Amino acid sequence: MKFFHLVFALCLLRSVSTSHLKYHAIFNFGDSLSDTGNFLVSGALAFPVIGKLPYGETFFRHATGRCSDGRLVIDFMAEAFRLPYLPPYLALKEGQNFKHGVNFAVAGATALRSVIFYKQKIGSRLWTNDSLSVQIDWFKKLKSSICSTRKDCETYFKKSLFFVGEIGGNDYNYRAFVGESINQLRASVPLVVKAITNATRVCYANLQSLLEPFLNTQEISK
Ligand SMILES: *[C@@H]1O[C@H](CO)[C@@H](O)[C@H](O)[C@H]1NC(C)=O
Ligand SMILES: *[C@@H]1O[C@H](CO)[C@@H](O)[C@H](O)[C@H]1NC(C)=O
Repeated sequence: MKFFHLVFALCLLRSVSTSHLKYHAIFNFGDSLSDTGNFLVSGALAFPVIGKLPYGETFFRHATGRCSDGRLVIDFMAEAFRLPYLPPYLALKEGQNFKHGVNFAVAGATALRSVIFYKQKIGSRLWTNDSLSVQIDWFKKLKSSICSTRKDCETYFKKSLFFVGEIGGNDYNYRAFVGESINQLRASVPLVVKAITNATRVCYANLQSLLEPFLNTQEISK
């Protein structure tokens, strides 16, 4: 699976550097493969060493909350578009400018809601309850403060890049850690895939609904 992530990422980077696409913002949802600090800000109780060197030592020279000694693929994506590294949502300060995007990814996050794991008595294994749906809720909260007029919103979101994932790997990890069989893991695949598709759809619908109030006002005023 890691291999596929890497190949996928390399393909993306290739197309980024060779295309003329220009994005002005990136919104990212996911887990440790792209978390730039949310898990650490939330306390990192399940994995406190992430807050210490050697995490971060080769590039940032201090621990940033990335599950890496340096940058992550999402950081290289930001660089490729000449954007700043994505600020973690949980570290945003009142009045902070985040027009170049926000990172909602949390290390250890699952695609499925945490309550599902608690019901199946494996909840205690979870690093975090900040599943994909929680991350989508964070985006919903934030979006109204991003732009105000229809034109601004349209222009802004047309030039925004949304990443939903990698996410879902941990849904299988936690099951594997408690000794579930490969067939049990396999049985959960459709649910995990559904959660990711749903989140993508909700995210898209939210962008549309963000523009709708302006569309309606225009209709009425016509
Ligand atoms: C996650 O949710 C469960 C059950 O809803 C709760 O008991 C637990 O304390 C939560 N964990 C965190 C880190 O918030
Ligand atoms: C889809 O996602 C939304 C928002 O997170 C949630 O309210 C809804 O219950 C989800 N539906 C399914 C089938 O998972």
